Amino acid sequence: MFSRLFYSSIFPFAIAIFVIFYRSSSLTALSQHLSWRSSSSTHQELIGNLYKDGIIQDKRIIDAMLKVDRADFTDKKSDTYSDRPQYIGYSVTISAPHMHGFALQILKDHLQPGAKVLDIGSGSGYLTACMAYLVRPNGKAIGIEHIQELVNKSIKNIKKHNKKLFDDGLLEIHKGDGRRGYPIQAPYDAIHVGAAIYGTPYELIRQLKVGGRLVAPIGNYFNQEMITYDKKADGTYNEQRHMNVMYVPLTDEKSQYAKAGGRRQI
Ligand SMILES: *[C@@H]1O[C@H](CO)[C@@H](O)[C@H](O)[C@H]1NC(C)=O
Repeated sequence: MFSRLFYSSIFPFAIAIFVIFYRSSSLTALSQHLSWRSSSSTHQELIGNLYKDGIIQDKRIIDAMLKVDRADFTDKKSDTYSDRPQYIGYSVTISAPHMHGFALQILKDHLQPGAKVLDIGSGSGYLTACMAYLVRPNGKAIGIEHIQELVNKSIKNIKKHNKKLFDDGLLEIHKGDGRRGYPIQAPYDAIHVGAAIYGTPYELIRQLKVGGRLVAPIGNYFNQEMITYDKKADGTYNEQRHMNVMYVPLTDEKSQYAKAGGRRQI
């Protein structure tokens, strides 16, 4: 009798402690393995460190990243070249440089000249601009972002030193609900999602070309993995799991505004 009472009263606390422990241990693992390793004080040094750390391995990716200076996309200039995410408003961050590097590296075979690629939750515009350089000439990188202010801000950011990407028709940023993809210009060689999706993103896989690749953080707030989906000729896909990550969920416009100032992407 005593023990039943004891266990039933301790149970909720045990769950709470488990959740706290689980979260902090996955956060620690994340920072040990991925964060801050490539921090630098200049643009060139940052890209060099991403290469030395093995995050980016291809000359094409190095060249694309060298053309897009992170300083054009951050608000807090003193922290521009730290290898961690930075808040840019509306509960959105510019991802850590190693996450940008990872995304470009994992998609490299699909970011070839002439390719059409979709960047969902394009936020600051940094990654979309890198993608646009990789698909030159004749390709197109399309960013989808549901906060109009961020759409405007990303266009302004990119135009600081890379206006030609717009002039040459290599880059577009549209306001839209990324959960639906961007069917008007589908199918895509590559799709990158910059916010967490719960469950398999069937609608986005549908918008891939056969042989195309989607990379997205999949899972709930406590348990997310970076997953790639490679679309096969029969319309099904191969799935490959990479590392644990922590992104804010991909939501609708209204909850994004409501959340603004709240949780941030790691
Ligand atoms: C975004 O930019 C467009 C075109 O420059 C402008 O008409 C609109 O008012 C801007 N919206 C916001 C929310 O800043």
